[in-house]
Amino acid sequence: MSEPLLSINGLSTGYAGVPVVRDIGLEVHAGEVVALLGPNGAGKTTTLLAASGLLPALAGSVTVLGSPVDAKAPHRNARRGLAHVAEDRSLFSDLTVRENLRLGLSGNRAQRATAQTAALGHFPELERLMDRQAGLLSGGEQQMLAMARALASSPRILLVDEMSLGLAPIIVERMLPIVRDIADDLGTAVLVVEQHIHMALGIADRAYLLSHGEVVLEGDAAELAQRRDLLEASYLG
Ligand SMILES: Nc1ncnc2c1ncn2[C@@H]1O[C@H](COP(=O)(O)OP(=O)(O)O)[C@@H](O)[C@H]1O
Ligand SMILES: [Mg+2]
Repeated sequence: MSEPLLSINGLSTGYAGVPVVRDIGLEVHAGEVVALLGPNGAGKTTTLLAASGLLPALAGSVTVLGSPVDAKAPHRNARRGLAHVAEDRSLFSDLTVRENLRLGLSGNRAQRATAQTAALGHFPELERLMDRQAGLLSGGEQQMLAMARALASSPRILLVDEMSLGLAPIIVERMLPIVRDIADDLGTAVLVVEQHIHMALGIADRAYLLSHGEVVLEGDAAELAQRRDLLEASYLG
C-alpha cells in the first residue's frame, strides 16, 4: 500500500503537560475513510487537535503528507492541504454564507470559483442561503457550511469532528455519504469522529476505537460492525 497521507505514531498529548491520550498509532491513506470511535472523554477531539498541529505532541509524532505536522504555525498545515472541521464548526457567525465560504478558498480567481462551485455541488441546500448570516442558519445548515468551507480548500487530508453534535440523525445520514464521496472522488484521506457508530462504520473503510486515551480496537469497518459485543463493551467501559 502507498504511504499514508496522515500518520500518527506513539502519540501522547494533552493539556498543560498532562497527557490525556497515550501511545496512539493511527494512519489514513489516500482515498480512505477512517472512523475514530469511542465514548465521551475518550480523547477523540484531543487526537484530532494533535493531528492538525493545534495541540503539540508530548511524545511521538504526527506526519502529514510526508513531513512533520507544524505545531508552531498550524495554518501552514492548512496550506499544505489539511482541513479540520472542528466540533464547534468555527464559522464566523456575523459573516454571510458566501463570505464564510470565501475564507476557505485559495488560489487565483478562477481556481477559487471552481473550488467553490465544487464544494457547493455537495450542498445545493446552501445556494439559496448565500447571503444569509451564518449565525442565523440551522445547526444542520451550519454543519454543511463548515464542511463546504473545508472542501472548498480541496484538502488532501480531511479531519471531521463529531458532525452529529446536536444534530438530528437524518443530517448525519446526509453528511456521511458525502464524506465517502470526497474520499472516493478526490482521493482525500478522511478521519471522521462520529457518535453514531453504525452509521460511521457503514461508510468507513477502517476504524479505531479509543477508550481512556488509548486505542483498544482497530480494524476493518465491516468486520467491526459485526462485533457489536466488543464495541458495546468498550463504550460501557
Ligand atoms: N481544554 C482542556 N483542558 C483540560 N482537559 C481537557 C481539555 N479538553 C479536553 N480535556 C480532557 O481530555 C479528555 C479527552 O477529551 P476529548 O478529547 O474532548 O474527548 P472526546 O472528544 O473523545 O469526547 C477528557 O478527560 C477531557 O476532560
Ligand atoms: Mg470530542
